Amino acid sequence: MSKTAANESVALTDTPSGKKLDYPLMPGSIGPKVIDIRKLYGDTGHFTYDPGFTSTASCESKITYIDGDEGVLMHRGYPIEELAENSDFMEVCYLLLKGELPNKAQKTKFERDITLHTMVHEQINRFYTGFRRDAHPMAVMCGVVGALSAFYHDSLDINDAHQRMVASYRLIAKMPTIAAMAYKYSIGQPFIYPRNNLDYASNFIHMMFAVPCEEYKVNPVLAKAMDRILILHADHEQNASTSTVRLAGSSGANPFACIAAGIASLWGPAHGGANEAVLKMLNQIGSRDKIKEYVTRAKDKNDTFRLMGFGHRVYKNYDPRAAVMRKTCHEVLAELGLKDELLDLAMELEKIALNDDYFVSKKLFPNVDFYSGIILKAMNIPVSMFTVLFAVARTVGWVAQWNEMIEDPAQKIGRPRQLYTGYTKRSYVPLNKRG
Ligand code: SDX
Repeated sequence: MSKTAANESVALTDTPSGKKLDYPLMPGSIGPKVIDIRKLYGDTGHFTYDPGFTSTASCESKITYIDGDEGVLMHRGYPIEELAENSDFMEVCYLLLKGELPNKAQKTKFERDITLHTMVHEQINRFYTGFRRDAHPMAVMCGVVGALSAFYHDSLDINDAHQRMVASYRLIAKMPTIAAMAYKYSIGQPFIYPRNNLDYASNFIHMMFAVPCEEYKVNPVLAKAMDRILILHADHEQNASTSTVRLAGSSGANPFACIAAGIASLWGPAHGGANEAVLKMLNQIGSRDKIKEYVTRAKDKNDTFRLMGFGHRVYKNYDPRAAVMRKTCHEVLAELGLKDELLDLAMELEKIALNDDYFVSKKLFPNVDFYSGIILKAMNIPVSMFTVLFAVARTVGWVAQWNEMIEDPAQKIGRPRQLYTGYTKRSYVPLNKRG
């Protein structure tokens, strides 16, 4: 629990009553201090008003730090660029969950523990037959992940740290399996079981693209790119889906239900659904000569069209993940010897947008979703699976934040208030007296 800054506070004058009130300033290790307003309502009878929580810290956390102005993203103090360059997804999962990079023995044991949880209960296979083949795979993910609580009764007690960790490992381990099963079901191919001799990213690719009829060799360049994409999407402070998981968890809901809630929130095109929306947008634009028309539309308040993959609530500078993603994009396309006209279109769109005063003045830079779709398309991942992949990666962030929330002594059930602007009290009008 952060200590308040020595004698630092923010003074408020409650003009109706003239009362002068001081609220302590709490410093973080870095980043903005917070005004501790927990006593505000009791002192003044007023609520704060902050739709979208643009100026509100919902919790204290030690997991991820973002500086939107500087384009900084760190996990447990390690810059995302260094992790993307030198680490791997399993190591980043350990770091997010436990707070430190693992030593060799810890890393080997963690990888083994995750590997041994990658299979799902055999009866879970039957859930899939209840869905239409053309169901959006995110709908399948919401349903199947929520249903895990019907199977793993020995990891539902959120007050038992061991059970919380077992549930966390199970979720990290099983998400790729469940995701790949959703894809296989959509194309009418048999499910492929996880392989214990493959690393996490290779296993996911293998479950997605192998068939029982022949050996499937995972391209190591694609596996490395997939691993890097997973790292870049692993956690991101108190974004919409993570806040959803925390809020669901604050009521004591079981971990599988909380992660299913996070998946539902991530699905939105303003959030994790943006990578799918970027590809749809690039296909809609179609050619370079149409870019200016669409950039104009994106600036028009009366037009609902937005440049998907641009802008961010926190980053008012280039999203550091987008920079790494852009580099990986070129590496993958070069390795595959692929020329991708959508990438060319994306590069041209980025150049035009970043020279347009509207985007520059509103600090709308490409975000993590702008390039990820192009890499995934080059890897033959279907567009409908893009957000599923984001959910696979973000599961470790969700469970790390969920554990931190439960262990936080200051945590209580999340229950925001409101500014009520509806009718004041009025009497019931019998049906025969209504107009
Ligand atoms: C993710 O929170 C996270 O950390 C999320 C994420 C994570 O890892 O968890 O980083 C992942 O969700 C990335 C964002 C993916 N979404 C998109 O790419 C969708 C397109 N972007 C926009 O929908 C928007 O930028 C948001 C939702 C990302 C951010 O919205 P904000 O912070 O609420 O900003 P805003 O809507 O208030 O926009 C500020 C201004 C507005 O104009 P004005 O009303 O001030 O005149 O910028 C405009 C907006 O109209 N604007 C855009 C725009 N994004 C914002 N105009 C055109 N195109 C855009 N993409």
